[in-house]
Amino acid sequence: MCGIVGYVGEQHPKEFLLDGLKKLEYRGYDSSGIAIKNNDNIQIIKCTGKISDLEEKINKENLISSKIGIAHTRWATHGEANETNAHPHKVGKVTLVHNGIIENATDLKNKLVNDGVVFRSETDTEVACAVISKYYKGNPIEAITEAIQLLKGSYAFGVLFEDQDKLYAVRKDSPLIIGLGKKENYIASDIAAIIKYTDQYILLNDDEVVELSGENVTVYKDGKKIKKEIQTSTMTIEDANKGNYKHFMLKEIMEEPIVLQRTLNKYINNMDQMVDISPYEEIHIVACGSALYAGMIGKCLLEEKANIKCMTDVASEYRYKKIIYDRKTLVILVSQSGETADTIAAMRKAHEEGIDTLAIVNVKTSTIAREAKQTLFIEAGPEIAVATTKAYLLQVAMFSLIALKAAHSKKLEKNYKEIIEEAKQLPDYLRKVLNDKDVFAGIGKEIKGARDAFYIGRGVDYAMCEEGSLKLKEVSYTHSDAYQAGELKHGTISLIEDGVPVFAIITDDKIKDKTESNVIEVESRKAKIYTITNDASIMNHHFKYVVEKISDYFQPVLIVPPLQLIGYYTALERGLDIDKPRNLAKSVTVE
Ligand code: F6R
Repeated sequence: MCGIVGYVGEQHPKEFLLDGLKKLEYRGYDSSGIAIKNNDNIQIIKCTGKISDLEEKINKENLISSKIGIAHTRWATHGEANETNAHPHKVGKVTLVHNGIIENATDLKNKLVNDGVVFRSETDTEVACAVISKYYKGNPIEAITEAIQLLKGSYAFGVLFEDQDKLYAVRKDSPLIIGLGKKENYIASDIAAIIKYTDQYILLNDDEVVELSGENVTVYKDGKKIKKEIQTSTMTIEDANKGNYKHFMLKEIMEEPIVLQRTLNKYINNMDQMVDISPYEEIHIVACGSALYAGMIGKCLLEEKANIKCMTDVASEYRYKKIIYDRKTLVILVSQSGETADTIAAMRKAHEEGIDTLAIVNVKTSTIAREAKQTLFIEAGPEIAVATTKAYLLQVAMFSLIALKAAHSKKLEKNYKEIIEEAKQLPDYLRKVLNDKDVFAGIGKEIKGARDAFYIGRGVDYAMCEEGSLKLKEVSYTHSDAYQAGELKHGTISLIEDGVPVFAIITDDKIKDKTESNVIEVESRKAKIYTITNDASIMNHHFKYVVEKISDYFQPVLIVPPLQLIGYYTALERGLDIDKPRNLAKSVTVE
């Protein structure tokens, strides 16, 4: 949801800024811009479209000599994606890039207009810029510190002042890190943007203001200097590159066995390290999108296996809803980025009510990782493709482990040891599925022309259908819906016509026969049935793919890659921009 980078040092900033923007493009890709400065001369270049368009434009310009600059890639919130609304924005002596949303921008704007400020864009960012400009009397730290008192919402700002040779930054509820180089320093929304240059960084807390020169980084809180710890990133340059793969999405799917191994290694031989949620009487799993669908699998496992009452909710609903916490409740937040605004708000709501929280997070430096009462880290490494794949798979695996631990603690699982042993084989089972990727490439070819697709299953199989359906629609733009298999005939079956692809997921022994009957119902209406199952004896209608049959706890993990690969290959056949689907952005840091 917008990416920002900034440079100050001894080199011209162009290369760092463009390189950084390319690494952050997954965060937003409808327009972009840079500002570089030399004394009081600020040059701003903006462009709609991709970073490659901006690069082309910059290469045609006469750039001023410079050793400092800021840049931005945008996912539009206030105002359409055009050059005027693209960042950086400049008001008076202040030039600024912004990630987040200023919620009281309209009020502030009205007051500033009365003061005579003329606004060029429709953005909340230009308003923030004007507020800082209003307070700027020669001391940047004072101006930023005063301005942020007035701003409501979320922000990460990179700021240049016309008469200062330093770079300034501040954040609240939006990610921003400070990179430490040799005679140069950086700001970035994400480590991926700076890892080529340094692995040393500082994490900022809300409303800490930073001043960066090539030699020094100084952090202030409420106008006073504070000390910060220097962190070392474990990310590698390869993590941030596609390698031999055509798309990050495929690279990340193919990494699943490795990241699963990494995550299992932490717990499977050492289940004492796994959080025991068995003392709780009620679990609320709250998340958005795929993370919520991983939570829906978690709910099925926790109820079926550990006998714990459990509900799932969309974070954007949960945060505003009346929640009656009348039992000993744990709220589990699931978030790859750890920066999803609604999930953060849901977590804070639980904290305000004195409710315990457990976060399942990938990004260790994120807000949710830092604020949740307890955190379990999936070890997915950086996920660059906008559509989540390996992180979702690990979220599912984490719920398998949580449910297994809780069932064991409650003495409900008599095959505990065997299941643990079996889990050690999971990465190999997963490799076997991924080795069949060409099978799913074939499905992509078959369904590339489909207008609609449906996913049907029951119980935990239905939860997987939701993710399969989301993957297909978000990357291939094929309309698709997921249904509990028994529900289709209550209306939607009227959409089934000759050749419509229907994906049936059938793994749950208890209700297999029931789903099978529903499959036959849609096949009678001439749907083309693609079955993904763990049971070789199930009837093959048009296509059948059989994964290894393993314990219920971990079975969903093996169903995940086929669903992701079907989405990927359908999008590939359609020639789409798979890593950056239209209208999307990774890390949704706005409501
Ligand atoms: C879909 C996808 C999204 C995210 C959702 C939550 O492929 O990636 O649905 O799962 O935006 O994001 P996080 O997990 O970062 O909170």
